[in-house]
Amino acid sequence: MKKILFVNACVRGESSRTLRLAKVFLNELADALPECEILEQDLTWMGLRSVDMQALVRKEALCDQHAWDDPLFAPTLQFQQADLVIIAAPYWDMSFPSILKVWVENMYVRNLTFKYFNDQSVGLCKGREAVYITTAGSPIGEYDWGTGYIRDVMKVLGIPGFTAIKAEALDLAGRDVNEIMAEAEKQARIQAKEVAQRLEQCSSATR
Ligand SMILES: Cc1cc2nc3c(=O)[nH]c(=O)nc-3n(C[C@H](O)[C@H](O)[C@H](O)COP(=O)(O)O)c2cc1C
Repeated sequence: MKKILFVNACVRGESSRTLRLAKVFLNELADALPECEILEQDLTWMGLRSVDMQALVRKEALCDQHAWDDPLFAPTLQFQQADLVIIAAPYWDMSFPSILKVWVENMYVRNLTFKYFNDQSVGLCKGREAVYITTAGSPIGEYDWGTGYIRDVMKVLGIPGFTAIKAEALDLAGRDVNEIMAEAEKQARIQAKEVAQRLEQCSSATR
């Protein structure tokens, strides 16, 4: 059974347009992969903590011991073992809400999601693909730091495939929000089918 992790950084909860777009993607994916298991990490409620000095010392000691049964690593294990990771976050301040950076800090676990080998960092995540879903008030244009950062984090942690789905310019006067969202939702359905197909092909190739 395919394990899919949905990382929900949509701070505005049910009012979030990013979450609405993510749900369209997830529903289409679930239709295409009826046997998959979708786990959600709702960052608003998980209480993930940013890493301070004390937490860092403890974390590094646990990494040395490969103590993966420590509760600190429960979300990281879900991430490391997921076949597909879907992240949804609104475009805030040229990237995304800070809670998503805190999540990234928690996903960087030496010897679990990456290791040092031959003077290099090598990704250890099982997944082959990640999807990043965002919506923005204005056109994102060249300032797409959120998408670029998440794509690179996934790559470094061992997840090479990356798809971005966006709805932009939603807060500009005179724009037809329903039309922009409808087009993004159409793209989300198309991408979900394609991602599902690749996941199926990947499992038949490894059978
Ligand atoms: C705190 C905050 C920061 C934002 N920063 C930006 C920004 O830098 N650029 C932009 O185009 N829109 C920005 N926006 C607008 C949001 O990207 C836009 O409204 C988005 O659709 C919100 O997504 P949501 O409905 O999922 O919350 C910001 C909104 C908020 C609340």
